[in-house]
This record gives sequence, C-alpha cells and structure tokens, in this order.
Amino acid sequence: KGKGWMTEHLVYYKGCWLTAYGALKGLMFIQDHFKAQPTDIFLATFPKCGTTWLKALIFATMNRSRYDFPSHPLLSASPHDCVPFLDAYIFQNNPVSSIHSLPSPRLFATHIPYDLLPNSMISSGSRFVYICRNPKDVLVSKWVFMNKARPKELPPLSLEDAFELFCKGVSHYGPFWDHVLGYWKASLESPEKILFLKYEEMMREPFVLLKRLTEFLGQPFSLEEESDGVVHEIIRLCSFENLSSLEVNKTKVKRFSNQLVIDNCDFFRKGRVGDWENHLTKEMIERLDQITEEKLEMVLD
Ligand code: A3P
Repeated sequence: KGKGWMTEHLVYYKGCWLTAYGALKGLMFIQDHFKAQPTDIFLATFPKCGTTWLKALIFATMNRSRYDFPSHPLLSASPHDCVPFLDAYIFQNNPVSSIHSLPSPRLFATHIPYDLLPNSMISSGSRFVYICRNPKDVLVSKWVFMNKARPKELPPLSLEDAFELFCKGVSHYGPFWDHVLGYWKASLESPEKILFLKYEEMMREPFVLLKRLTEFLGQPFSLEEESDGVVHEIIRLCSFENLSSLEVNKTKVKRFSNQLVIDNCDFFRKGRVGDWENHLTKEMIERLDQITEEKLEMVLD
C-alpha cells in the first residue's frame, strides 16, 4: 500500500496504483459491466497530461455542426461535464442504464492503463485518442493539483515527497511511464485504433494536430469549414486562455465526492510547456530523465 498524495491509500493492482475506494471500484465496475461499441471514442490519459484540454477539443470537434460558437456548451459548462469520465460511472445512480442510454457515438474519458482495459474496449472497433506529456511538467502539475485537493487538516505535500512517490511510480494510475508506454506501443501496433498525441506538439501546432484528430475520428474538416475558420474557432474556444477565463471554469464545484474534492478552477493552472524549470532541482531533473531513458530502452529492446 502506498500513502502520501492523499489520506486514502493507493493500492497496487496488476501493475497499477489506484485509490481503493474510487479508481479500483470504478475499474472493477467497467471490467464487469461495460461493453464497448464499435463507434465509441475513448480519450485516454494519465492525470495532468491535458485531459481537460482534449476533452474540450474532441467535444467541440465531434459536435461542431450542432452548436453555434456564440452559444456553445463549452462557454457555460466545464469540459468535465461535457465528456463523461468512464472510471467514475459507478458513482452515478443506475450506472449501467445511464451508460446504455447515451446516444452513439459515445465519447468517454478514462485514465485506465492499456493493459487493464476490458476486452471489449480493445477488440471492438472503438477508437482511442491518447495524450502524453513531459513527465517533469506532469509531476509539477500533479504536485500543485494534489495539494489543492488535499484536506486542509493535512500539511501540504512537499515537492521532495511528491517527487519520490512519482519516481517510484506511486501515483494515481501510475507508474506514469508504464501508462504512456502501454498506449504508445499499442498505437504503433494499431495506429487505426489509437491516435497518440503529445501535449507539447499540440501546443506548438494545434492546427495540424486538430486536423489529424478529425481525420482519425473519421470527421475531417471540409474545405468550406477550413475557409470559414472553423478549425481556428475550435482552437480558440478550447485554448487555455479562453477556457480558464470563463466563469464556469472559475467556480468551485466539488467533484468526485468520494475521496477527491476538486474545483473546476483547479484544472487550470498555467497551461505551459516547461514550467518544471521553475520548480525542479538539477538532481530531480537528472533522475527523471534517467528513468525515462531506462523505461524507453526497456520497451525498445
Ligand atoms: P499545469 O498544471 O501545468 O498548468 P488534466 O486536464 O489532465 O488534469 O491536466 C491539467 C493540466 O493541463 C494543467 O497543467 C492545466 O493548466 C493544463 N490545461 C488545462 N486546460 C488547458 C488548455 N485548454 N490548454 C492547455 N493546457 C491546459
């Protein structure tokens, strides 16, 4: 058992660290009751790699003919309310029937590692969009985020302790590296099933990557949409600057009432590449780089 990020222990289940009450229960429910459909789209991420951003981008893209930009749902609802979190369905009333009543194509977000996905999610024609991020930025983002979610009676988690836990892989849905590499390997084997994106590339070339995303989803932008500026509108709507300035994303809404109390605003911090430079020591950077190299070598061997 690993403790540290929160009051609740993380348990190690088949190579992955999960909260016993929340994530493990959610996973058991999905493995026992969820049947993927060929039209399902899953947005898979390790926490703090850009889930909120990608939720907004995919939701806006898939629904682009349904809504006008001035009255778009993303202007008044959090991306987390627009795309359901598969792992937390168990906490809804009548989870089985509420999943089944969703219209097709269904869009879900999940943090489940590739190796723990139920069979139907792998063998049906459903598709995955995965986004990964530099582990140094993930660590800093997660450390700040968990301190915000941490009960007030606990002392803040130091960066040193967060770093040690993260390096050992003891982190919600961790180890980080196994999560990323699991989806990466699968995306090389089945590129038609898994689109593997990087946060940093998405920041650098959102236009190119959004077009790639729509092609992968089988909903490419038409020439007319491109000339009308639809691609740019979606990028602007889902940008950090826009989403984080919206009233709905500044409000304090309690999420995941089981063990994590998270406000909408906590999903928006800096939205930058390389903020780790402001926090990590030289030794921390070297160790994280070394783990990354070793893990990559193991996969490439
Ligand atoms: P930082 O803490 O580095 O700022 P997740 O959504 O997976 O929880 O990840 C949260 C991280 O994504 C945070 O990173 C957050 O600021 C950033 N983020 C949220 N919305 C974003 C957006 N629209 N564009 C870019 N980054 C975004």
